[in-house]
Amino acid sequence: MKYDELEQKGFLDIEVDPALDLFEEIARLKKERNAVVLAHYYQEPDIQDIADYIGDSLGLAQKAAKTQADMIVFAGVHFMAETAKILNPHKKLLLPDLRAGCSLSDSCPPELFKSFKDKHPDHLVISYINCSAGIKALSDIICTSSNAQLIVESLPKQQKIIFAPDKNLGAYINRKSGRNMLLWNGACMVHEIFSLEKITRLKQRHRDAKLIAHPECEEAVLRIADFIGSTTQLLKFAETDEASSYIVATETGILHSMQQNAPGKTFIAAPPDNACACNNCPHMRLNTLEKLYLCMKYELPEITMDEDLRIAAKKPIDRMLELSSQLGLGG
Ligand code: 13P
Ligand code: SF4
Repeated sequence: MKYDELEQKGFLDIEVDPALDLFEEIARLKKERNAVVLAHYYQEPDIQDIADYIGDSLGLAQKAAKTQADMIVFAGVHFMAETAKILNPHKKLLLPDLRAGCSLSDSCPPELFKSFKDKHPDHLVISYINCSAGIKALSDIICTSSNAQLIVESLPKQQKIIFAPDKNLGAYINRKSGRNMLLWNGACMVHEIFSLEKITRLKQRHRDAKLIAHPECEEAVLRIADFIGSTTQLLKFAETDEASSYIVATETGILHSMQQNAPGKTFIAAPPDNACACNNCPHMRLNTLEKLYLCMKYELPEITMDEDLRIAAKKPIDRMLELSSQLGLGG
Protein backbone atom coordinates (compact mmCIF):
# COMPACT_ATOMS: atom_id res chain seq x y z
CA MET A 1 0.00 0.00 0.00
CA LYS A 2 1.23 3.50 -0.86
CA TYR A 3 1.41 6.40 1.58
CA ASP A 4 -1.19 8.48 -0.33
CA GLU A 5 -3.65 5.56 -0.23
CA LEU A 6 -3.32 5.55 3.58
CA GLU A 7 -3.94 9.29 3.51
CA GLN A 8 -7.06 8.86 1.35
CA LYS A 9 -8.41 6.19 3.69
CA GLY A 10 -8.06 8.67 6.57
CA PHE A 11 -5.64 6.31 8.36
CA LEU A 12 -3.12 9.09 8.94
CA ASP A 13 -5.66 11.26 10.76
CA ILE A 14 -6.58 8.69 13.40
CA GLU A 15 -5.70 9.98 16.84
CA VAL A 16 -4.70 7.90 19.84
CA ASP A 17 -6.65 8.38 23.07
CA PRO A 18 -4.05 9.92 25.43
CA ALA A 19 -5.59 8.00 28.37
CA LEU A 20 -4.59 4.63 26.87
CA ASP A 21 -1.70 2.71 28.38
CA LEU A 22 0.08 1.96 25.11
CA PHE A 23 2.44 -0.59 26.67
CA GLU A 24 -0.56 -2.60 27.86
CA GLU A 25 -2.47 -2.15 24.59
CA ILE A 26 0.48 -3.22 22.47
CA ALA A 27 1.09 -6.26 24.70
CA ARG A 28 -2.61 -7.20 24.31
CA LEU A 29 -2.51 -6.79 20.52
CA LYS A 30 0.68 -8.86 20.31
CA LYS A 31 -1.14 -11.78 21.94
CA GLU A 32 -4.38 -11.33 19.99
CA ARG A 33 -2.63 -11.14 16.61
CA ASN A 34 0.18 -13.60 17.38
CA ALA A 35 2.51 -10.75 16.46
CA VAL A 36 6.18 -10.18 17.10
CA VAL A 37 7.71 -6.70 17.36
CA LEU A 38 11.25 -6.49 15.97
CA ALA A 39 13.08 -3.24 16.67
CA HIS A 40 16.40 -1.78 15.58
CA TYR A 41 18.67 -0.21 18.22
CA TYR A 42 18.06 3.18 16.58
CA GLN A 43 14.41 3.24 17.65
CA GLU A 44 13.23 5.49 20.49
CA PRO A 45 13.63 3.97 23.99
CA ASP A 46 9.89 3.20 24.48
CA ILE A 47 9.84 1.14 21.29
CA GLN A 48 12.99 -0.72 22.33
CA ASP A 49 11.34 -1.47 25.68
CA ILE A 50 8.15 -2.92 24.13
CA ALA A 51 9.98 -4.94 21.44
CA ASP A 52 10.25 -8.75 21.57
CA TYR A 53 13.66 -8.50 20.00
CA ILE A 54 16.08 -5.58 19.56
CA GLY A 55 18.94 -6.07 17.17
CA ASP A 56 21.20 -4.77 14.45
CA SER A 57 20.43 -5.40 10.79
CA LEU A 58 21.94 -8.91 10.81
CA GLY A 59 20.23 -9.98 14.03
CA LEU A 60 16.90 -8.65 12.82
CA ALA A 61 17.15 -10.47 9.46
CA GLN A 62 18.09 -13.68 11.28
CA LYS A 63 15.19 -13.29 13.69
CA ALA A 64 12.76 -12.52 10.85
CA ALA A 65 13.90 -15.66 9.02
CA LYS A 66 13.00 -17.84 12.03
CA THR A 67 9.90 -16.34 13.62
CA GLN A 68 6.77 -18.44 14.10
CA ALA A 69 4.54 -15.36 14.52
CA ASP A 70 1.73 -14.66 12.03
CA MET A 71 2.41 -10.95 12.02
CA ILE A 72 5.75 -9.13 12.07
CA VAL A 73 5.71 -5.51 13.19
CA PHE A 74 8.97 -3.97 12.09
CA ALA A 75 10.11 -1.00 14.14
CA GLY A 76 12.86 0.08 11.82
CA VAL A 77 13.08 1.45 8.30
CA HIS A 78 11.57 0.34 5.00
CA PHE A 79 14.47 -1.78 3.69
CA MET A 80 14.45 -3.77 6.96
CA ALA A 81 10.72 -4.47 6.82
CA GLU A 82 11.08 -5.30 3.12
CA THR A 83 13.87 -7.79 3.93
CA ALA A 84 11.60 -9.45 6.51
CA LYS A 85 8.80 -9.65 3.90
CA ILE A 86 11.19 -11.20 1.35
CA LEU A 87 11.92 -13.93 3.92
CA ASN A 88 8.26 -14.30 5.01
CA PRO A 89 5.96 -13.97 1.98
CA HIS A 90 2.97 -15.45 3.80
CA LYS A 91 3.18 -13.38 6.95
CA LYS A 92 1.64 -9.95 7.46
CA LEU A 93 4.47 -7.42 7.58
CA LEU A 94 3.75 -4.02 9.12
CA LEU A 95 5.86 -0.87 9.31
CA PRO A 96 4.50 1.81 11.71
CA ASP A 97 5.35 4.70 9.34
CA LEU A 98 5.59 3.90 5.64
CA ARG A 99 7.77 6.99 5.06
CA ALA A 100 10.57 5.56 7.23
CA GLY A 101 13.12 5.28 4.40
CA CYS A 102 16.92 5.45 4.36
CA SER A 103 19.21 7.99 2.69
CA LEU A 104 21.75 5.26 2.00
CA SER A 105 19.21 3.04 0.29
CA ASP A 106 17.91 6.05 -1.69
CA SER A 107 21.43 6.83 -2.89
CA CYS A 108 21.37 3.70 -5.05
CA PRO A 109 18.48 3.63 -7.57
CA PRO A 110 18.18 0.20 -9.30
CA GLU A 111 18.17 1.57 -12.91
CA LEU A 112 21.44 3.49 -12.38
CA PHE A 113 22.99 0.61 -10.49
CA LYS A 114 22.07 -1.84 -13.25
CA SER A 115 23.91 0.18 -15.90
CA PHE A 116 26.93 0.48 -13.56
CA LYS A 117 26.88 -3.28 -12.98
CA ASP A 118 26.52 -3.99 -16.72
CA LYS A 119 29.78 -2.10 -17.34
CA HIS A 120 31.60 -4.57 -15.05
CA PRO A 121 30.34 -8.01 -16.07
CA ASP A 122 33.31 -9.82 -14.47
CA HIS A 123 32.53 -8.40 -11.00
CA LEU A 124 30.51 -10.08 -8.27
CA VAL A 125 28.08 -7.76 -6.48
CA ILE A 126 28.06 -7.57 -2.68
CA SER A 127 25.40 -5.21 -1.40
CA TYR A 128 24.98 -3.86 2.08
CA ILE A 129 21.52 -4.78 3.37
CA ASN A 130 20.66 -1.04 3.49
CA CYS A 131 19.30 -1.10 -0.07
CA SER A 132 15.99 -1.65 -1.84
CA ALA A 133 14.65 -5.02 -2.99
CA GLY A 134 15.48 -3.85 -6.54
CA ILE A 135 19.19 -3.59 -5.64
CA LYS A 136 19.10 -6.87 -3.74
CA ALA A 137 17.70 -8.55 -6.86
CA LEU A 138 20.77 -7.27 -8.79
CA SER A 139 23.21 -8.57 -6.15
CA ASP A 140 25.04 -11.86 -5.59
CA ILE A 141 25.45 -11.61 -1.80
CA ILE A 142 23.99 -9.31 0.82
CA CYS A 143 26.00 -8.30 3.87
CA THR A 144 25.52 -6.17 6.97
CA SER A 145 28.05 -4.21 8.98
CA SER A 146 28.36 -7.23 11.32
CA ASN A 147 29.49 -9.65 8.64
CA ALA A 148 30.76 -7.51 5.72
CA GLN A 149 34.46 -8.13 6.30
CA LEU A 150 34.06 -11.90 6.82
CA ILE A 151 31.84 -12.22 3.75
CA VAL A 152 34.29 -10.29 1.55
CA GLU A 153 37.22 -12.32 2.90
CA SER A 154 35.37 -15.59 2.26
CA LEU A 155 35.77 -14.91 -1.47
CA PRO A 156 39.02 -15.63 -3.37
CA LYS A 157 41.44 -12.67 -3.29
CA GLN A 158 41.44 -12.37 -7.08
CA GLN A 159 37.63 -12.15 -7.29
CA LYS A 160 36.59 -8.74 -8.63
CA ILE A 161 33.86 -7.20 -6.49
CA ILE A 162 31.42 -4.30 -6.70
CA PHE A 163 30.40 -3.13 -3.22
CA ALA A 164 27.20 -1.08 -2.90
CA PRO A 165 25.75 1.24 -1.74
CA ASP A 166 27.88 2.50 1.21
CA LYS A 167 31.23 3.92 0.09
CA ASN A 168 32.39 4.41 3.71
CA LEU A 169 31.76 0.82 4.78
CA GLY A 170 33.19 -0.40 1.45
CA ALA A 171 36.36 1.69 1.85
CA TYR A 172 36.73 0.47 5.45
CA ILE A 173 36.48 -3.18 4.31
CA ASN A 174 38.96 -2.47 1.50
CA ARG A 175 41.45 -1.12 4.07
CA LYS A 176 40.89 -4.04 6.47
CA SER A 177 40.99 -6.82 3.89
CA GLY A 178 43.52 -5.38 1.43
CA ARG A 179 40.95 -5.68 -1.38
CA ASN A 180 40.21 -3.16 -4.06
CA MET A 181 36.45 -3.43 -4.38
CA LEU A 182 34.73 -1.04 -6.75
CA LEU A 183 32.54 1.21 -4.59
CA TRP A 184 29.14 2.71 -5.29
CA ASN A 185 29.11 6.35 -4.20
CA GLY A 186 26.42 6.18 -1.49
CA ALA A 187 26.47 7.20 2.16
CA CYS A 188 24.32 7.41 5.28
CA MET A 189 23.24 10.96 6.14
CA VAL A 190 23.53 10.20 9.87
CA HIS A 191 27.00 8.67 9.95
CA GLU A 192 28.56 10.95 7.39
CA ILE A 193 27.71 14.11 9.32
CA PHE A 194 29.84 13.52 12.44
CA SER A 195 32.18 16.43 13.04
CA LEU A 196 35.84 15.42 13.31
CA GLU A 197 36.63 18.79 14.88
CA LYS A 198 33.95 18.54 17.58
CA ILE A 199 34.80 14.88 18.31
CA THR A 200 38.49 15.80 18.67
CA ARG A 201 37.57 18.57 21.13
CA LEU A 202 35.32 16.18 23.05
CA LYS A 203 38.16 13.66 23.25
CA GLN A 204 40.39 16.35 24.74
CA ARG A 205 37.77 17.17 27.38
CA HIS A 206 37.18 13.48 28.22
CA ARG A 207 40.69 12.07 28.03
CA ASP A 208 39.71 8.68 29.47
CA ALA A 209 36.81 8.17 27.08
CA LYS A 210 37.25 5.76 24.18
CA LEU A 211 35.84 6.71 20.78
CA ILE A 212 33.74 3.88 19.35
CA ALA A 213 32.35 4.25 15.83
CA HIS A 214 30.14 2.57 13.25
CA PRO A 215 31.90 1.74 9.95
CA GLU A 216 29.36 3.87 8.03
CA CYS A 217 31.31 6.90 9.41
CA GLU A 218 33.82 8.69 7.22
CA GLU A 219 37.45 7.56 7.15
CA ALA A 220 38.69 10.61 9.12
CA VAL A 221 36.48 9.66 12.10
CA LEU A 222 37.29 5.94 11.81
CA ARG A 223 41.01 6.75 11.78
CA ILE A 224 40.84 8.19 15.32
CA ALA A 225 38.40 5.56 16.68
CA ASP A 226 39.50 3.11 19.39
CA PHE A 227 36.98 0.52 18.22
CA ILE A 228 34.89 0.14 15.03
CA GLY A 229 31.87 -2.13 14.72
CA SER A 230 28.21 -2.66 13.88
CA THR A 231 25.63 -1.60 16.46
CA THR A 232 25.71 -5.02 18.15
CA GLN A 233 29.51 -5.09 18.12
CA LEU A 234 29.65 -1.58 19.63
CA LEU A 235 27.22 -2.67 22.35
CA LYS A 236 29.22 -5.79 23.19
CA PHE A 237 32.46 -3.83 23.25
CA ALA A 238 31.03 -1.16 25.56
CA GLU A 239 29.79 -3.88 27.89
CA THR A 240 32.94 -5.94 28.10
CA ASP A 241 35.74 -3.39 27.65
CA GLU A 242 37.54 -2.17 30.79
CA ALA A 243 37.12 1.61 30.18
CA SER A 244 34.39 3.53 31.98
CA SER A 245 33.40 6.15 29.41
CA TYR A 246 32.85 6.20 25.67
CA ILE A 247 32.16 8.71 22.92
CA VAL A 248 29.73 6.93 20.63
CA ALA A 249 29.77 7.77 16.90
CA THR A 250 26.55 6.24 15.65
CA GLU A 251 22.82 6.93 15.94
CA THR A 252 21.92 8.02 19.48
CA GLY A 253 19.20 5.40 19.96
CA ILE A 254 21.89 2.87 20.81
CA LEU A 255 22.74 4.76 24.02
CA HIS A 256 19.52 3.43 25.62
CA SER A 257 20.62 -0.21 25.32
CA MET A 258 24.24 0.68 26.15
CA GLN A 259 23.20 2.35 29.35
CA GLN A 260 20.94 -0.60 30.28
CA ASN A 261 23.65 -3.18 29.54
CA ALA A 262 26.45 -1.27 31.27
CA PRO A 263 24.73 0.89 33.92
CA GLY A 264 27.90 2.04 35.66
CA LYS A 265 29.49 3.49 32.51
CA THR A 266 29.20 6.89 30.84
CA PHE A 267 28.18 7.18 27.19
CA ILE A 268 28.53 10.47 25.33
CA ALA A 269 26.89 10.94 21.91
CA ALA A 270 29.41 12.07 19.29
CA PRO A 271 28.31 15.47 17.93
CA PRO A 272 27.34 16.02 14.30
CA ASP A 273 28.44 18.93 12.13
CA ASN A 274 25.30 20.99 12.79
CA ALA A 275 23.69 22.77 15.73
CA CYS A 276 22.55 19.52 17.42
CA ALA A 277 24.40 17.80 20.25
CA CYS A 278 23.41 14.29 19.20
CA ASN A 279 22.62 12.49 16.01
CA ASN A 280 19.23 10.89 15.38
CA CYS A 281 18.22 9.20 12.13
CA PRO A 282 15.17 11.19 10.92
CA HIS A 283 13.86 8.09 9.11
CA MET A 284 14.10 5.74 12.07
CA ARG A 285 12.54 8.37 14.33
CA LEU A 286 9.36 8.57 12.23
CA ASN A 287 8.20 5.49 14.13
CA THR A 288 6.58 6.29 17.48
CA LEU A 289 4.85 4.21 20.14
CA GLU A 290 1.50 5.71 19.01
CA LYS A 291 2.10 4.69 15.39
CA LEU A 292 3.21 1.23 16.51
CA TYR A 293 -0.05 0.83 18.40
CA LEU A 294 -2.18 2.10 15.48
CA CYS A 295 -0.44 -0.13 12.98
CA MET A 296 -1.09 -3.20 15.14
CA LYS A 297 -4.69 -2.21 15.75
CA TYR A 298 -5.58 -1.50 12.09
CA GLU A 299 -2.97 -3.86 10.54
CA LEU A 300 -1.68 -1.02 8.37
CA PRO A 301 0.61 0.06 6.71
CA GLU A 302 1.44 -3.32 5.26
CA ILE A 303 4.53 -4.16 3.17
CA THR A 304 3.63 -6.01 -0.03
CA MET A 305 5.85 -7.08 -2.89
CA ASP A 306 5.85 -8.36 -6.44
CA GLU A 307 6.59 -12.13 -6.29
CA ASP A 308 9.24 -12.19 -9.07
CA LEU A 309 11.12 -9.36 -7.37
CA ARG A 310 10.84 -11.12 -4.02
CA ILE A 311 12.27 -14.37 -5.36
CA ALA A 312 15.17 -12.57 -7.06
CA ALA A 313 15.91 -10.49 -3.94
CA LYS A 314 15.77 -13.53 -1.64
CA LYS A 315 18.68 -15.41 -3.23
CA PRO A 316 21.49 -13.06 -2.08
CA ILE A 317 19.89 -12.73 1.39
CA ASP A 318 19.79 -16.53 1.74
CA ARG A 319 23.43 -16.61 0.71
CA MET A 320 24.26 -14.12 3.46
CA LEU A 321 22.31 -16.07 6.08
CA GLU A 322 24.00 -19.35 5.07
CA LEU A 323 27.48 -17.76 5.07
CA SER A 324 26.78 -16.09 8.43
CA SER A 325 25.85 -19.36 10.09
CA GLN A 326 28.89 -21.10 8.52
CA LEU A 327 31.04 -18.27 9.88
CA GLY A 328 29.47 -18.66 13.33
CA LEU A 329 27.75 -15.26 13.33
CA GLY A 330 24.67 -15.76 15.50
CA GLY A 331 21.30 -16.81 14.11
P1 13P B 1 23.74 -2.13 11.59
O1 13P B 1 22.40 -2.44 12.12
O2 13P B 1 24.25 -3.21 10.69
O3 13P B 1 24.72 -1.76 12.63
O4 13P B 1 23.56 -0.85 10.62
C1 13P B 1 23.29 0.38 11.12
C2 13P B 1 22.33 1.15 10.31
O5 13P B 1 22.61 2.21 9.84
C3 13P B 1 21.01 0.61 10.12
O6 13P B 1 20.26 1.47 9.35
FE1 SF4 C 1 19.68 4.72 6.66
FE2 SF4 C 1 21.61 5.90 8.02
FE3 SF4 C 1 19.13 6.00 8.96
FE4 SF4 C 1 20.50 3.67 8.99
S1 SF4 C 1 20.98 5.51 10.14
S2 SF4 C 1 18.39 4.00 8.32
S3 SF4 C 1 21.73 3.87 7.11
S4 SF4 C 1 19.87 6.91 7.02
